[in-house]
Amino acid sequence: MSQSLLQNKKILITAGPTREAIDPVRYISNHSSGKMGYAIAESFLACGAQVCLISGPANIRIPARPALTIIHVNSAIEMYIACCQYFEKTDIAVFVAAVADYRPAQIAQQKIKKDESSFILKMVKNIDIAAEFGKIKTASQISVGFALETNDEWKNAIEKLSGKNFDMVVLNSMNDPDATFGHDTNKVSIIHKDLQRNDYRLKTKSEVADDIVSEIESIVRKSKTVYSKRDSLVI
Ligand code: CTP
Repeated sequence: MSQSLLQNKKILITAGPTREAIDPVRYISNHSSGKMGYAIAESFLACGAQVCLISGPANIRIPARPALTIIHVNSAIEMYIACCQYFEKTDIAVFVAAVADYRPAQIAQQKIKKDESSFILKMVKNIDIAAEFGKIKTASQISVGFALETNDEWKNAIEKLSGKNFDMVVLNSMNDPDATFGHDTNKVSIIHKDLQRNDYRLKTKSEVADDIVSEIESIVRKSKTVYSKRDSLVI
């Protein structure tokens, strides 16, 4: 069997939801289980890659092994800071996390009491982790994002592909009842930078992860061909 092109590659994966604190006992979050991100981590590990998994709160166990580093975070800001430590040395970044787009403008120091009959929470925009790294990504780094859409799926996915400087985007439609949060199955379409598109059937998240990782390996293969062609031109 030939060796995977992903052998020893350094992979950064964000996974799970983020939690944005309101006060010491409450937070805002979403339904992401983290299953897809963890399955992608397993797939890369099976190819011999070195994986740094930066995970929001998720109830998933993944066996410890030397090629795996897991960093547990809560908020989007914590996730961003953890990514900053690793991104420069990363070959391939896969942004799977369902990062909360907004966070409370202030975290109350004490538990908020229900004194009033209504309550308005002011929210501010969180940092867009994938977009920030898209700005500083080098030509040899690959970045992959997800697009979770309920409507105008293709238009929105392609906007995310270019807006966040992804090499590939995985479109996750919310229109399939078996392909939403918490399920063990998922149905995705993958769109590359050149807009080449592959649609997959409903599969287990672990099969979907293998498909995603093999599409990423095809990007690595293509970039190797480009470089070796360039080298042979120089020679
Ligand atoms: N993402 C991120 N940081 C954020 C928001 C999103 O890294 N603050 C990443 C996600 O991990 C995913 C991609 O950006 O790879 C798209 O996320 P998605 O939630 O589908 O879209 P948003 O950019 O948040 O836009 P919207 O919610 O308006 O669809």
